[in-house]
Amino acid sequence: MKIAIIGQGYVGLTISAYAGKYFEVVGFDNNAKIVDQLNMGVSHIEGVEGSTLQKWIKAGRYQATSNGQDIADVDLVVIAVPTPLTIDRKPNLNYIEAACKTIGKNVSKRVLVVNESTSFPGTLRNFIKPSIEKNSKSAVEHLYAISPERVDPGRSDFNQKNTPRLYAGLTPEASIRTRDFYSKFCDNLIEVSSPEVAEAAKLFENTFRQVNIALVNEFAQIAHSLGISVYETLDAANTKPYGFMKFTPSAGVGGHCIPVDPTYLAAVAEEHGAPATFIRRANEVNLEMSEYVVSRVQADNGGSLQGKSVLVVGVAYKPNVADVRETAAELVIKHLRDRGAVVSWHDEVVGSWHGESSALLSGADIAVVVTKHDVVSNRDILASAPYVFDTTGKVFGAKGL
Ligand SMILES: NC(=O)c1ccc[n+]([C@@H]2O[C@H](COP(=O)([O-])OP(=O)(O)OC[C@H]3O[C@@H](n4cnc5c(N)ncnc54)[C@H](O)[C@@H]3O)[C@@H](O)[C@H]2O)c1
Repeated sequence: MKIAIIGQGYVGLTISAYAGKYFEVVGFDNNAKIVDQLNMGVSHIEGVEGSTLQKWIKAGRYQATSNGQDIADVDLVVIAVPTPLTIDRKPNLNYIEAACKTIGKNVSKRVLVVNESTSFPGTLRNFIKPSIEKNSKSAVEHLYAISPERVDPGRSDFNQKNTPRLYAGLTPEASIRTRDFYSKFCDNLIEVSSPEVAEAAKLFENTFRQVNIALVNEFAQIAHSLGISVYETLDAANTKPYGFMKFTPSAGVGGHCIPVDPTYLAAVAEEHGAPATFIRRANEVNLEMSEYVVSRVQADNGGSLQGKSVLVVGVAYKPNVADVRETAAELVIKHLRDRGAVVSWHDEVVGSWHGESSALLSGADIAVVVTKHDVVSNRDILASAPYVFDTTGKVFGAKGL
């Protein structure tokens, strides 16, 4: 069977690497640079080894392309393109629309189209299907299904094989074919009654995280005002063997999912006249956390950051990955600069970002730890500045939340 995977990023390339063992995979991406690299067996995604791609390329089971005609004769298409927010923080389906155009214009025979991109309930039925049909030259009736992606980049204990996968087709035939496809490389497949349930479940999973992170971020502020340790209090609460799940405070939330997906749910809720107050407030609390952190740093440093050199340690959105999408470091740096600080950052995993390079981990007046990678030692962080503020709870001996 020949399959096309539209989008060769975190999700699409990861699926390609798994699927290459069983299928002939065409990795379609409109970024020509990525395509060239992939065809040379070079992976740009953590968790996908170049050696795996090279193995599939040699066996004739992987090819990357930007040419739509290369997907003309596939049997199955997976959509794995970005679903970001617009500037005014509304769902942006432009990438999905472009992917639908590619499929509609190029795929001539009847195929199964599976969407893995995260979006609001109704996207498969009311947007993807009509959009592909609108762009199709022939009157062929494709099959449609959803199987939301749950991959957590950088994580080794849960992967495509052992992470349970939800799925639902628009028709029973689509459901059966979706199960057949994923069962090759996923051990636990769970069918739900409609695509809308699968789409909503994915959004609710990340909303659950967003709301609980906001709750603990607000609680960190309460604990500080009461003069108690937020970490000791959380550890104490966590001794309860049921009904409690520990989340830890931070400078905010980052990545492509948690700051974004809940807004998709809020948008569709409000469109249907249902309240989404928790989601909206959680988003605000998490965004405000960066300013709270900077205010604490300022208060500890004589009430002014004017002219002080501040080193932000760790700008990736989470430890041990190079991903800076929606990172909380962005707002922390902005607030520090707004208050007159001279800001540089250190992150040897990220290396370069916004045209700036990772600075030395030393010589600053103030260090603010946003993300603590394993490759950076606490000793070096503590030695980097006379005052260190840690937002991660991992740098013992520093000031912190
Ligand atoms: N990264 C994650 O951890 C994760 C986890 C679960 C779900 N998701 C969801 O999966 C989807 C993809 O996310 P990602 O992290 O893989 O994004 P990504 O940015 O890493 O990769 C997307 C790729 O799609 C390509 N692309 C964009 N438009 C295209 C088009 N029209 N045709 C072909 N290629 C196109 C881009 O060049 C890029 O290489 C999103 O909906 C996201 O919310 C991501």
